[in-house]
Amino acid sequence: MQTLAGKKILLGIGGGIAAYKCADLTRRLIERGAEVQVVMTRAAKEFITPLTMQAVSGKPVSDSLLDPAAEASMGHIELAKWADLILLAPATADLIARIASGMGNDLLTTLVLASDAPIAVSPAMNQQMYRNQATQENIATLQKRGMHIWGPASGEQACGDIGPGRMLEPMQLVEECEQFWADKPLKGLSVLITAGPTRESIDPVRYISNHSSGKMGFALAQAAVQLGASTNLVAGPVSLDTPVGVNRVDVASALEMHNTVMQYAPSHDIFISCAAVADYRPESIAEQKIKKKDSNEHMTISMVKNPDIVASVANMTDARPYTVGFAAETQDVAHYARSKLTNKNLDMICANDVSIEGQGFNSNNNAVTLYWKEGEQSLTLASKQKIAQQILMCIAERISS
Ligand code: PMT
Repeated sequence: MQTLAGKKILLGIGGGIAAYKCADLTRRLIERGAEVQVVMTRAAKEFITPLTMQAVSGKPVSDSLLDPAAEASMGHIELAKWADLILLAPATADLIARIASGMGNDLLTTLVLASDAPIAVSPAMNQQMYRNQATQENIATLQKRGMHIWGPASGEQACGDIGPGRMLEPMQLVEECEQFWADKPLKGLSVLITAGPTRESIDPVRYISNHSSGKMGFALAQAAVQLGASTNLVAGPVSLDTPVGVNRVDVASALEMHNTVMQYAPSHDIFISCAAVADYRPESIAEQKIKKKDSNEHMTISMVKNPDIVASVANMTDARPYTVGFAAETQDVAHYARSKLTNKNLDMICANDVSIEGQGFNSNNNAVTLYWKEGEQSLTLASKQKIAQQILMCIAERISS
């Protein structure tokens, strides 16, 4: 489908190993109707040749600020004005630093300075370089200037390290471009999301928790930002990076999550309760580590009920947000989900069968059925990012109907 028909994308390639993916990226963008003009840094040409990029883009590649022939055909100011979007991929630590400090010491950085087109930056570098305070501050500077930061992904790197710093895959960048021009149905709205597990302390070193990784809730937060919402995420203890553009508050126990949510909820249009909140907590937390006693074969912990966070929000009388819950079920999914929808006074519930392998807790994928009073919609197995987008699109439709 020509989702990018007529869009002019200036692809600025930096000198990183991920530059080789730019041939595929260019082809995918063109397949969707975009026109792509490639500009390369000197270092980028060490990783992929201008000839390759010319062949796939169908246009001569620009790489020099001081080339009279190139300036005669499309000068750098013309190029800067031509673009509907400048996409910097891979954006190395060096390229990001030069742009953050406003340098114009090659064609690409000069174009960035000379253009008023929106700029998207897809960072790609070694994980340590990415985590470096200088890089983080430079990325924050670009964001403050309104540039879009797409990625990076986390995982195994070309140098053998593992961590954040991988350039997004070509298809993910294509999707970012599509999202960039897509309607933003949540523009002007604020979304509050809970994610991850809670931890209910038994003593100073032990707690009761569950297998929630936070992936579903974090994917919802990322999708909410992409769809234009201002987004607050209340996260239980998880080891996930905060999605770009999301404001995150960390909590540990259900009581802390409850207090934080109740403080934030009145100023939000939508609340999505994706966290796997402990229904009960130990009645008291031992001040010292509980000792094992040889005489005791059994141990009993007395538990008390936690407040139901999503029900508390759904029953607010003032400034109540559109309230969406999740139902994690292992049997009779539709029946239990609909009961929770009614009993907790929700507007919508996202039911997932967590007994099926490859979805639900701690998986990268999920399949859910959305229920609301008068209807339902099934979302078949897909990445949690995709499911999150579909859930939010459905919410957007419901609140505007
Ligand atoms: O985090 P991941 O590894 O990505 O896994 C995602 C998930 C399986 C955790 C997620 O998709 C999910 O199902 N989340 C809800 C888990 C859950 O607690 O479900 P429940 O059926 O027990 O609770 C129903 C609803 O009440 C949920 O919206 C829950 O957030 C809410 N609740 C429950 C108890 C409580 N004390 N307060 C609540 O707000």
